[in-house]
Amino acid sequence: MSEVTLGGPFTFPGTSLTVQRIGYGAMQLAGPGVWGPPNDPDAAVALLREAVAEGVTHIDTADYYGPHVTNQIIRQALHPYPAGLVIVTKLGARRPADHSWQPAITPKELEAGVHDNLRNLGLDALDVVNYRVMGAGHGTEEGSIAEQIAALANLQRKGLIRHIGVSNVTAAQVAEAQTIVAVVCVQNQYNLAHRHDDALIDDLARQGIAYVPFFPLGGFSPLQSSTLSSVAGHLGATPMQVALAWLLHRSPNMLLIPGTSSLAHLRENLEAGRLRLSPKTLAELDGIADAPRPD
Ligand SMILES: NC(=O)c1ccc[n+]([C@@H]2O[C@H](COP(=O)([O-])OP(=O)(O)OC[C@H]3O[C@@H](n4cnc5c(N)ncnc54)[C@H](OP(=O)(O)O)[C@@H]3O)[C@@H](O)[C@H]2O)c1
Repeated sequence: MSEVTLGGPFTFPGTSLTVQRIGYGAMQLAGPGVWGPPNDPDAAVALLREAVAEGVTHIDTADYYGPHVTNQIIRQALHPYPAGLVIVTKLGARRPADHSWQPAITPKELEAGVHDNLRNLGLDALDVVNYRVMGAGHGTEEGSIAEQIAALANLQRKGLIRHIGVSNVTAAQVAEAQTIVAVVCVQNQYNLAHRHDDALIDDLARQGIAYVPFFPLGGFSPLQSSTLSSVAGHLGATPMQVALAWLLHRSPNMLLIPGTSSLAHLRENLEAGRLRLSPKTLAELDGIADAPRPD
């Protein structure tokens, strides 16, 4: 492993799973539109191997990326998996032939999803499974998730799932899930410019539960802000590194899974763990979310 600090270690609550706080999100490894194989499968394999060689111990995936493709690439690149690598996957969606994203939320579909993940990743049990509520963004789908969480708890009892998380959820849905299982992580949309979850993050931090922002760099519309660029310029870093460092400073339970298909971007993102931001700089960056719209 290089000297990159990766933001240091984090242990999922009540588990023996410890990961470095900068991990890797594998969604960008599928083809365009998260469908089919990537343009360069060998490059995808090389990227995953480099990530692990650089100390990444947390990979986020889903069997509906591709579908199946991303998990198959992870298996090809990394199986047999090195000790300490934690692969986190998601359930709750399926991808029909029209490439759309449809809910797959009955207990039967969730069980089938677990078996898809096990088969394509080459595992006997999944370390962490997030139940992902369908819907465009955070908080758009209110309503009970008790049936789905109970279904995952059942699969946990069967030994197919070790730990459970939730994704794209409201605070009420997190609390509801916690009445059924021990929730070890929450994965919602959050970044410098999109801060609906501030209160939830603080609440989860008090409980030691991981908060894993998806779209940490803005996702399909990468973050753009003159403040971000100016701070990055002063620090001799890139705007994306500053955006990631800001997340690491935001809360100790924040785990990063930036996605990239580029080796250069991967290395750049891992280096973000070295950036120390002063209180003044953090305040300046906090202002981005308050601005009417990042320019
Ligand atoms: N739970 C959920 O509902 C959900 C939803 C979406 C995503 N996710 C997970 O979250 C992970 C992260 O989200 P994401 O990949 O969609 O979005 P993201 O990490 O916010 O951004 C990825 C985009 O940023 C670019 N990028 C990455 N590093 C960069 C750098 N250093 N400089 C410039 N551009 C850079 C990537 O392009 P290049 O390939 O060119 O680097 C890609 O277009 C996913 O991989 C997936 O595992 C979960």
